[in-house]
Amino acid sequence: MPAQIANMIAAGEVVGRPASVVKELTENALDAGATKVTVVVTDAGRTLIQVIDNGCGMDAEDAQLCFERHATSKIAEAEDLEQIMTFGFRGEALASIAAVAEVTLKTRRAEAETGTQVTIGNFGATEVSECSAPVGTSIAVRNLFYNTPARRKFLKSDNVELKHIIEEFTHVALTRPDVAFTLTHNGRDVFVLKAAKSLKYRIQDLLGAGVTGELVDIDVQTSLVRVSGFVGRPESARKTLGNQFFFVNGRYFRSPYFHKAVMNAYAEMVPEGVTPSYFLYLTVDPHSIDVNISPTKTEIKFEEDSVIFQTLFACVRETLGRNSFGASIDFDTEGAVEMPQISRSFSEYKSGGIAPSHDFDPDYNPFDQAQSSDYVPDFGPSTAGEGAGSAGQGYGHGIARSENYGALFEERTLALGKSIVVGGRFIATPVASGVMLVHIRRALVRILYEKTLRALQAESPVSQTALFPVEVQVGAAYVPLFEENSDLLSRMGFDIAPFSADTIVVNAVPEGYGADEMSVRGTVADLLQVLSDGGHNVLPEMMQSATARKFAEIGAARYSEIKTPAEATRLLDDLFACSSADLTPSGKRITCIVPIEDLEKRF
Ligand SMILES: Nc1ncnc2c1ncn2[C@@H]1O[C@H](COP(=O)(O)OP(=O)(O)OP(=O)(O)O)[C@@H](O)[C@H]1O
Ligand SMILES: [Mg+2]
Repeated sequence: MPAQIANMIAAGEVVGRPASVVKELTENALDAGATKVTVVVTDAGRTLIQVIDNGCGMDAEDAQLCFERHATSKIAEAEDLEQIMTFGFRGEALASIAAVAEVTLKTRRAEAETGTQVTIGNFGATEVSECSAPVGTSIAVRNLFYNTPARRKFLKSDNVELKHIIEEFTHVALTRPDVAFTLTHNGRDVFVLKAAKSLKYRIQDLLGAGVTGELVDIDVQTSLVRVSGFVGRPESARKTLGNQFFFVNGRYFRSPYFHKAVMNAYAEMVPEGVTPSYFLYLTVDPHSIDVNISPTKTEIKFEEDSVIFQTLFACVRETLGRNSFGASIDFDTEGAVEMPQISRSFSEYKSGGIAPSHDFDPDYNPFDQAQSSDYVPDFGPSTAGEGAGSAGQGYGHGIARSENYGALFEERTLALGKSIVVGGRFIATPVASGVMLVHIRRALVRILYEKTLRALQAESPVSQTALFPVEVQVGAAYVPLFEENSDLLSRMGFDIAPFSADTIVVNAVPEGYGADEMSVRGTVADLLQVLSDGGHNVLPEMMQSATARKFAEIGAARYSEIKTPAEATRLLDDLFACSSADLTPSGKRITCIVPIEDLEKRF
């Protein structure tokens, strides 16, 4: 088999998409000791990916050799493989890239007067010449996959490929806060990261001050592993994706297993389906891990993975327990959004004086007490279904279509003005047959769902609350999402416009949504999730109802609280005007009636 074809096959493993090229080249730059790395991308990497560094550079011989398979300067003996301290060690990356793209390398070592230029053109044709060049290395990769059309066709839209590039760039930038990084796309700056004093400043520059304000730091050392970095406050966790990172010995890796350990630590502190952020840096003896088990090195084998799992769980849990009681964080939030330090449910127990534990007891749960006293009776489907008797059944069939409509309507009318709000979460209303209970949040979901659906079907516009404009840095990868969906968003009652390459500005939100800056930021985070979920491939009707459902869930969570009897009455009016008042669009029960007989049984 000709070497060229062997290389193309191997390249499939290492270079899956433009983002892999960015990863390999930036890692090489860091291995070369660069303090400044510039990444230039055109057309999401299809046309050009160029990485320029100020590292050690290569001499003329190495400049040609580096494209040979297994030409690595980083491993000399088998023993070195046991304790890898560089990103690269296989000598595969450049050979693989050169097999599927046109590559131009320019490089010079500090002691050399002239540099070397190596061009690898169509099907491996190589040209070498002397050139003038700054110290360091610049590698330009053009027309990626020009000779593997199937793979080129496989690439996703520019937005998706750029998102992958940004992800890889983010991983590398997070491994080395001390190095300055720049990423430009089609001539626009996406990131300009100066060398940072510490990790927190790097995170802030990368992901925005809003993210750093939500983090607490963690630093724990056991005989096996040191765990440092940051974890997100439970009360600030959102349904947004991303911002979960593991590193070991300075290398990014993925681990569903360790992810589970961290998520277990958050159990019962965050609502289901919500993923908190974390930036966790593990340091272990290099002998105890195997980096070479996947072609992209993002899977890593740990010798003592179950012990590390336990350690992660315990130390994250302990950190959260310690910090959720208002301890101030060692975090410079200068210019950051003010985050509430304690959420309501946590603050209620603050006075309880639960001593934080510093032991590594995996069963330790600082919130046990909180959970038990936070108990709210659940009149969910099981209890309501059995106990509600005949009166409850009427609601089980959708009020508009129910045979008992007349009777229920009468009960409703009787109830007018007598509703009370219980625990901020339920409305209780006396009706002829007992007490009707309404789950407020679910009622809001139903109301907003129908409202949204009507808005999406362009039947009736949603009223807006105009704001003092709020700028939100969402990241360059996400600004286009807001542009693409601006029609949808404006029908929903949002007025959101691009502000700069990585920032949007919110001018109005739908009526009822919180209008303060914090709420607006939260809403944007939720929108990001809804919009980046895509749904562009599903049928328009399905997309409408799915979108309406998501918006309703968000809206209900963000709706200002229902407190007074008058507000409760208005809510009930809106609810009973819906096509169905008994179930949410996802089938959760909204209303039930506790019959008088059941009340009697209690005495
Ligand atoms: N930016 C750079 N500056 C200086 N030398 C470089 C640079 N990029 C590559 N090299 C040299 O070229 C060699 C080959 O690079 P390549 O990425 O193919 O392999 P590697 O980094 O050793 O291993 P891996 O395949 O695991 O990345 C490196 O070992 C290094 O000596
Ligand atoms: Mg490499």
